[in-house]
Amino acid sequence: MRRGASRPDTPQRADAAARPCAPRHRRTELALFLRRWLAHPLRIGAIAPSAPALARAMAEAARTDLTNGNLVVELGPGTGSVTRALVAAGVPEERLVLVERDRHLHAWLEGQFPRANVLLSDARQLDEILPVGQAGRVSTVVSSLPLNSLPRSERDEIVRAAFRVLSDDGSLVQYTYGVPSPLPCEALGLTGRRVAFAAANLPPATVWRFSRAPADRPAHPSARNPD
Ligand SMILES: C[S@@+](CC[C@H](N)C(=O)[O-])C[C@H]1O[C@@H](n2cnc3c(N)ncnc32)[C@H](O)[C@@H]1O
Repeated sequence: MRRGASRPDTPQRADAAARPCAPRHRRTELALFLRRWLAHPLRIGAIAPSAPALARAMAEAARTDLTNGNLVVELGPGTGSVTRALVAAGVPEERLVLVERDRHLHAWLEGQFPRANVLLSDARQLDEILPVGQAGRVSTVVSSLPLNSLPRSERDEIVRAAFRVLSDDGSLVQYTYGVPSPLPCEALGLTGRRVAFAAANLPPATVWRFSRAPADRPAHPSARNPD
């Protein structure tokens, strides 16, 4: 299921991911996205891939300081528009873990980002599927998941799994089409902040960044995994 985890880091080559999509490639991507939306509208949760303005805003909101071998995890990358923006913003493909549940989109992502670790899995299992030793070394989880159309229990499981793998000062970046926060901060022990608004997206979207509320931060790294 997991690919590429053991490959050594190589200097960033943003070529494939950062170059603008050729029109034919873009059409193929849109057609794939539409087919997957027709098959599972609620799971896909958007009628089109994120527009470049939203993808850039998500990438800018992500902490991309990857010292100490930290990683960036993306949940629900779809056809990879946010992924491309992350690479263009300087995240080496080798430091990206992409978690996509749809096998057609997973296969597409493997072709688009051959040096990333592309996992065919459910975001709820994030802490179980990360390569050994990488939990706690994730600086940002970037989520394009349709959190508002998921059952509350599933949404909460995903958020908890994300914060189990994030470093102590790590954050979760999520967009929403609504006005209020896409997450109930108090109930989940988080603080949330609106960090960007992308008007040039269909529909316009707001980007939020969530961190552990101060009382929820483990006093010591070992507190994350008491075992
Ligand atoms: C809104 S789409 C992603 C859009 C993407 N950012 C883009 O611009 O192309 C949401 C994605 O989340 C995936 N997804 C939904 N629930 C998931 C889950 N529990 N685990 C992993 N992926 C999931 C869907 O298959 C879909 O690809």
